[in-house]
Amino acid sequence: MSKDSRDRSVAKKLYIKTYGCQMNVYDSTRMADVLAPLGYVPADAPEDADMVILNTCHIREKAAEKVFSELGRLRPLKALRSEQGERMILAVAGCTAQAEGAEIVARAPYVDIVLGPQTYHRLPEMVAQAARAGGYVLDTDFPAEAKFDFLPDAATPQGISAFLSVQEGCDKFCTFCVVPYTRGAEFSRPGAAIVAEARRLVAHGAREITLLGQNVNAYRGAAVDGEARWGLGRLIRALAEIEGLLRLRYTTSHPRDVDDALISAHRDVPQLMPFLHLPVQSGSDRVLHAMNRRHTADDYRRIIERLRGARGDMAFSSDFIVGFPGESDADFSRTLDLVREIGYAQAFSFKYSPRPGTPAALMPRQVPEDVKAERLAALQALLTEQQQHFNAASLGREVPVLFEKRGRHPGQLVGRSPYLQAVHAAAPEHLVGTLAPVRLVRVERNSLAGELMIEGDEVLA
Ligand code: SAH
Ligand code: SF4
Ligand code: F3S
Repeated sequence: MSKDSRDRSVAKKLYIKTYGCQMNVYDSTRMADVLAPLGYVPADAPEDADMVILNTCHIREKAAEKVFSELGRLRPLKALRSEQGERMILAVAGCTAQAEGAEIVARAPYVDIVLGPQTYHRLPEMVAQAARAGGYVLDTDFPAEAKFDFLPDAATPQGISAFLSVQEGCDKFCTFCVVPYTRGAEFSRPGAAIVAEARRLVAHGAREITLLGQNVNAYRGAAVDGEARWGLGRLIRALAEIEGLLRLRYTTSHPRDVDDALISAHRDVPQLMPFLHLPVQSGSDRVLHAMNRRHTADDYRRIIERLRGARGDMAFSSDFIVGFPGESDADFSRTLDLVREIGYAQAFSFKYSPRPGTPAALMPRQVPEDVKAERLAALQALLTEQQQHFNAASLGREVPVLFEKRGRHPGQLVGRSPYLQAVHAAAPEHLVGTLAPVRLVRVERNSLAGELMIEGDEVLA
């Protein structure tokens, strides 16, 4: 049933609030897809929604706490609706639901459904159950069937830049991380399903696709043709053949899984953007070992070098954790050294947050909070300086910008450079969804200002 043909009078409103990583953003669109046949249409606010889903993240303590404060805010809304004789179904999905399902129902008994990331295809069943019975429905299985086989085709429009999950779960077990527990074992979708979904996204207007996975470059999916398995490099080559798909990206990668095929894809596939988020976490081998990262700082340096060798204009982003148990001043200074050597276009950095059930939470020599804060400030100062330097160095250059939508001011469009920098420029609206040459002229707070280098009626692609 298409959105338009649906009888508006029976339409129910669905509000989804998404926390955490891009995989959750993608999952939220898939939950909307699953619920659409039941008559649910997206709502912009929870106030008059018939169903509210919190799609949660468990990666750090702060992320997990947000769930309970948000539930506290929703409780009176739900009560108000029930006074009006209406029902609000309240569901908690995502990684905190997976990790703390029992605690959620104990602390917030007004929650109707708690479901883990592997059971979204069962949502309609759970909604029916919740509507029938009192009490709650809890489904945090890791079912034997793959949810992707049971989800309807992706249909929720994602715009010019779309996400596509190709891989889920993680077998790496870094000692600080909850993901292997909340998302389960690594699983790769078959190549054919991914190519078909990418084609549909492009048919619906996507011009850029970001391939997603908790460990995306560990992708090893069933091949489309006779080959045994496809790695990520091969998958990227197949996707690059789709007409109208102008840009490809992928995230998040693990240094261990950067192979020759992926590096050569960066060399050969022009649609693959020369920008890679490759988390290193620390520059100290001692800390990397304790983190069970299974690579050294030098391994990482070599990978960056090889990628730069394959494509001279590559730029990098990373994640860092400061204050991992046992991290000394000398360890931390190795992280700063590595950052100085690599030179990042941007990066994310976090204070280590002990997560229940992970090995690092029980390690001796936990680092005091004030030391973590000091290290984080020092690292962030360096990373901010590098980002400013990277942005300043791009001024005066002409770069292809993929325009995504109208800007804040009339006559303005916004889009992204190959390096994910937000760029705005005066440009006619029909350039949305096209690659246009833009000269970068000014660094502003959260974006770069540019000038369109073509007349409005010329289009690059
Ligand atoms: N799969 C990705 C990252 C997933 S989580 C990878 O392998 O790199 C995103 C980032 O959150 C991680 O890269 C890490 O820097 C950070 N992170 C994960 N667990 C954390 C913890 N317990 N404390 C602080 N930061 C953490
Ligand atoms: Fe977590 Fe490590 Fe897996 Fe990334 S590779 S999701 S940090 S366990
Ligand atoms: Fe958070 Fe789960 Fe993503 S813990 S970062 S939402 S995989």
